[in-house]
Amino acid sequence: MKVFINKRIPETGIKMLKEAGLEITIPEKENLSYEEWLNYCKNTDTILSVGAEFKYDKNFFEACPNVKAIALYSVGFDHVEIKEATQRNIPVGNTPDVLSRATSDVAFLLMQSVARRASYNFRKVKDGSWGAFDPLHALGQELYGKTLGIFGLGRIGYEMAEKSKKAFGMNIIYHNRHHNEEAEQELGAIYVSFEELIKNSDVLSVHANFTPEHQELFNKSIFEQMKPDAIFINTARGGFHNQKDLYQALVDQKIWGAGLDVTNPEPMSADDPILELSSVCILPHIGSATIEARNGMARLAAGNIIAFSKSEKMPYCANP
Ligand code: DGY
Repeated sequence: MKVFINKRIPETGIKMLKEAGLEITIPEKENLSYEEWLNYCKNTDTILSVGAEFKYDKNFFEACPNVKAIALYSVGFDHVEIKEATQRNIPVGNTPDVLSRATSDVAFLLMQSVARRASYNFRKVKDGSWGAFDPLHALGQELYGKTLGIFGLGRIGYEMAEKSKKAFGMNIIYHNRHHNEEAEQELGAIYVSFEELIKNSDVLSVHANFTPEHQELFNKSIFEQMKPDAIFINTARGGFHNQKDLYQALVDQKIWGAGLDVTNPEPMSADDPILELSSVCILPHIGSATIEARNGMARLAAGNIIAFSKSEKMPYCANP
């Protein structure tokens, strides 16, 4: 069985695939054009798919009838039309759990970085504008005892809530499709409506799976309902927020700060004026970028392909 991997992944995954006797193709070229990627896809049975720049939509499935399975090297699958894949009996694997700690670490890092204006202060050191001690300059805020609102309390949201509770004794409120009993029992998390979440969070952190209904859910009208000293954190998908509205809300001091590991668009332009604000900290989608998480993702993605090659169900599958 042929496996096309569009970008090199950690060796642990490659080794598993080789030991399973699968025929692997990894292009020499780092970043393929859409046409080059599609040509590889047309000539393979399965894809171990890295990154989300190309969509697996109806056009793709029609153009690549030989593709029988896709194992994503990500937990998110918003770049795949799952319904189309399912109708064609194509399993789509993903990599949950192994990156929850790493991604929630980044949400936690951003929360603190924004609270203490870390990006802005770093820039001051770098550009030589570190002046004399000023009792009133670059003041941050402390997180102790504040309210953390989690939008989407799955695995990553839970880990963010747990860290914030343990480190800062934060009160946890959340909005989710279902109640999370473990979070309610272990962390004292309180389920609230979306409206209550928006209005009562000192820090609002987005951790839900992205679906088309979520497109720019966090926009002008939402930022206007948040507390003026609230911090908005997004480590899920850039599509959740309207970035121009976020910029304006920060400029107009409707909210106090924002920490983003995902942007809209992504990658964002280096000329985006939001980068000039002292109230933001922006990272280039590095949530899962630890050795441990990326090795785990490689193992799960390879495991999904191997299971498929043996006509078994993929252990981690995004199809319903
Ligand atoms: C995921 O797994 O969905 C991340 O966003 C990519 O690292």
